[in-house]
Amino acid sequence: MRIDIITVLPEMIEGFVHESILSRAEKKGLAEIHLHNLRDYSNDKWRRVDDYPYGGFAGMVMQCEPIDRCISALKAERDYDEIIFTSPDGERFDQPMANELSMKGNLIILCGHYKGIDHRIREHIITREISIGDYVLTGGELAAAVMADAIVRLVPGVLSDDQSALSDCFQDNLLAAPIYTRPADYKGWKVPEILLSGNEAKIKAWEIDQAMERTSRLRPDLLE
Ligand code: ADE
Repeated sequence: MRIDIITVLPEMIEGFVHESILSRAEKKGLAEIHLHNLRDYSNDKWRRVDDYPYGGFAGMVMQCEPIDRCISALKAERDYDEIIFTSPDGERFDQPMANELSMKGNLIILCGHYKGIDHRIREHIITREISIGDYVLTGGELAAAVMADAIVRLVPGVLSDDQSALSDCFQDNLLAAPIYTRPADYKGWKVPEILLSGNEAKIKAWEIDQAMERTSRLRPDLLE
């Protein structure tokens, strides 16, 4: 899969892309992440990409032209399954959405900034508006990085077997059971006996029981 991220702050995402699971996916040839500096598509001699809003409202607004030019240039090279805009008023990003997007071929993520973007871009170019939670970030870069990470790690082959995405929290709408490693007794804090029993069926039943208990206590909304 390929994700093109359009931003006014590529350096903010660059380190993350080259250090995290995303770089491992790239090395395995399973995913490509490309960063595009929106300012490269500005016609302004100061490389500006924003302007004052009509109507005298507060804040600055990202202009249509640089965004349209950048996305048109990308679309001329290949087809895209979704053109996503990061925005606190979008659909809420969650694990099912990450699963769905991990099955797509090519995605564009446009990072919002300033007060927002000219609404005509949202009407005519964007196919999906996504929020990572009910809080307002300074820009969409962190949201794009969060989404790219959650999506790419689900691409088959990116995780090794022992990191399998199938046992993730939320994968089956349950929080994961607690996990432990050696030693079995640390300062008198003991690993549950059952995990040392070697009885696979009982361990599986314990895992489900724990997952249910933690979910109903910590995230009852997931069980509704
Ligand atoms: N931009 C600002 N806040 C955001 C959020 N919560 N999700 C996605 N993009 C954003």
